Amino acid sequence: MVEQKAKAPLKEEPTDVLTLDYNNLAAEVVGNETGLSNDDFARMKAALSLAFKDVESRYRKGLLPFMDLPHDQEIVKATRKLAELGRKKKFENVVVLGIGGSALGASAVFTAVKALNHNELPQNKRNGWPRLIVADNVDPEGFATILDGLDLKNAFFNVISKSGATAETMSQFMVVYDQLQRTLGRSAIRDHLLVTTDPENGVLRKIVAANDFASLPVPPQVGGRFSVFTAVGLAPLAMVGVNVPELLAGAAKAVEDSHKPVAGNKAYLFAGLNYILTTEKKRGVLVMMPYADSLAKVADWFGQLWNESLGKATRLDGAPNPHCQTSIKALGVTDQHSQLQMYMEGTEDKSVCFLGVENYRQNVNIPPIFKEHEELSYLGGHSLGELINFERQGTARALAENGRPNFSLTTPKITAFNVGYLLQTLEIATVVSGSLYNIDPLDQPGVELGKKFTYGLMGRESYSSFKEKFNKGLSVKKKYIVA
Ligand code: PA5
Repeated sequence: MVEQKAKAPLKEEPTDVLTLDYNNLAAEVVGNETGLSNDDFARMKAALSLAFKDVESRYRKGLLPFMDLPHDQEIVKATRKLAELGRKKKFENVVVLGIGGSALGASAVFTAVKALNHNELPQNKRNGWPRLIVADNVDPEGFATILDGLDLKNAFFNVISKSGATAETMSQFMVVYDQLQRTLGRSAIRDHLLVTTDPENGVLRKIVAANDFASLPVPPQVGGRFSVFTAVGLAPLAMVGVNVPELLAGAAKAVEDSHKPVAGNKAYLFAGLNYILTTEKKRGVLVMMPYADSLAKVADWFGQLWNESLGKATRLDGAPNPHCQTSIKALGVTDQHSQLQMYMEGTEDKSVCFLGVENYRQNVNIPPIFKEHEELSYLGGHSLGELINFERQGTARALAENGRPNFSLTTPKITAFNVGYLLQTLEIATVVSGSLYNIDPLDQPGVELGKKFTYGLMGRESYSSFKEKFNKGLSVKKKYIVA
């Protein structure tokens, strides 16, 4: 057990938006073996100074266009129109057909910002806004269930695919197109459809042009997982009443803050701390653990951002990349009762990032009853808001006591502004991490091969060699199976 010293120098100055507290990473708190020493912090600072120069110079050269998105007035205008369309009460359900970077951003912001039960409420209790359904899987049962629950007359579909070639999204689109055509007639399809895709390329763009469908562009230089502040995320969010200007204002503030010197810069510190944990402390796993149901999907979104960006075999200098940090998701407090044991005593390869909320939008008081039972009487008179926050703080402290490094990002309240700030900070942190590891965080070469096998297996002619390769793999496997 490690004794905590009184001084606590590592807490960031509290701001109104996001606080980063990394006390529980310091050697003086978690012990020398797993904690960061003064030398580690000095190494981190030196590495971050180089990364700062690199990222700032790439930003100035226009190579990081995702950081300019919060100032895109065109998209603000477009979303205003979509918000009006959502407001007309013509549509009961807005359905996103998209996957990965074309789905997770909208899902994360929607779940964070709107009421948790938005989709369950009747229209008058939703202030007239439609529901948002993000159909990001092709499980036939799941998709059929979504379709069965819709009345096509008042459903609006936003098909989102940057490439226009993603098998899952395009299959969903083909199913929906066919159903709209059969039910409402071909000419009615355009009233129920918005296509978000590359401004020029891809088959989806051709279909838009041929049918005069409404469409919005995905900026070609912005990758899927960095696209939440493009039409990809903003169009469906606007249609269900998310305050887009406020969300973008938060993102813009995060960009502004990222230009500040490294010492007080949360995006850089988040990247730097994780870099030192991974490279010096063998913490190859980062558990992202929000203590709020509203932020659960933010952890999913972050999982894609971090894993697809940083899981790279090769560095930019051509050498193998020896260090990758995997992000996994846990939800507080629920997963304290399912995963925490592993984080407390399991393999020493993890650090935990708590995502905290100081003030929940609703609170529930625990009544002061059962006073005669000592096991329960301490709960009465408190609130669930207090309980969840004490559990987060208590768990962080317990991990630290056990020599398990952890840190916290805390926001005072969930608002569109604060969520915009959080997501943009994490996107910038991801690019800073790419610079620290000397890898390209903006590509994803590893996901292509699986797609090629799928194309081959589904009978796409130009990929038939992958079907042959696949079948060859099966026969080799058969040879070694012992009956
Ligand atoms: O981050 C990414 O690039 C991926 O997750 C893509 O967003 C995902 O594969 C969907 O691609 P697309 O938008 O081209 O359909």
